[in-house]
Amino acid sequence: MRPYIICHMVSSVDGKIDGAALSAVMGKGEYEATGAKLHGDAWICGRTTMQQHFAEDKPFVSASNKPAGPRPVFVARRAKSYAISVDTLGKLRWPDGDLDGDHLICVVSEQAPQDYLAMLREKGISYIVSGKTSVDVANAVNQLGKHFRIRTLLLEGGGHINGAFLQAGLVDEVSLLLVPGIDGRHDIPAVFDGVSPSRKRAVPLKLKSVGQRGRDTLWIRYEVVRSKTAKR
Ligand SMILES: NC(=O)c1ccc[n+]([C@@H]2O[C@H](COP(=O)([O-])OP(=O)(O)OC[C@H]3O[C@@H](n4cnc5c(N)ncnc54)[C@H](OP(=O)(O)O)[C@@H]3O)[C@@H](O)[C@H]2O)c1
Repeated sequence: MRPYIICHMVSSVDGKIDGAALSAVMGKGEYEATGAKLHGDAWICGRTTMQQHFAEDKPFVSASNKPAGPRPVFVARRAKSYAISVDTLGKLRWPDGDLDGDHLICVVSEQAPQDYLAMLREKGISYIVSGKTSVDVANAVNQLGKHFRIRTLLLEGGGHINGAFLQAGLVDEVSLLLVPGIDGRHDIPAVFDGVSPSRKRAVPLKLKSVGQRGRDTLWIRYEVVRSKTAKR
């Protein structure tokens, strides 16, 4: 039921992902060009990334503050490609249901306000309500497969949403553009971040391909190695 999930990211040699810092050492359009080769029919980002790069500046302010509670999936329309935000409390404001030519789907928790969902419906934006107090990403991706027929989902950061998908066992493949630079700052998120400290073993990967892009960038693709009992 759920889509095949490829985490596609750019990182410095020390695994940091601050796009502004990395733009000085990466080829223009390289991230998008390599991403297009993955043939995703949707891409998904965490609330912080969506706020920084795509949503309107000011957050949504609820007039009622009444949590929506459990709600059915709202399919405003079906599309060839989708942009998906993961926004626990329904803070992101959007002008309409189109994001760079992709139809927008907002994934929220049951804590998102009723009037936030009403605003999405009015603007023709699809939504999925998944999880009581935080977004249940495993259920959300199943709904994406079932209601929107998404088959290949590109997980495009930042580090904390990637970490949540990894922890839930939802990452099938990693597509990493390793650019020739070192960030070195402590507080900058890494490609996968925020995973529980009790998890003391690295997730094993198997090299799928590695290639050079431009002069000094590597494009590395890994499959996540699953234990024999794990199911997709
Ligand atoms: N180099 C790259 O390829 C690349 C790609 C994308 C982003 N970035 C960079 O990454 C940075 C942001 O990364 P980030 O790690 O701070 O933020 P993020 O992963 O973009 O967003 C994290 C936020 O998503 C929301 N969220 C909803 N459900 C979640 C769940 N189940 N688990 C985790 N988070 C959930 C939470 O906010 P709420 O609780 O408010 O909902 C959380 O704080 C930016 O600097 C951006 O430019 C880099």
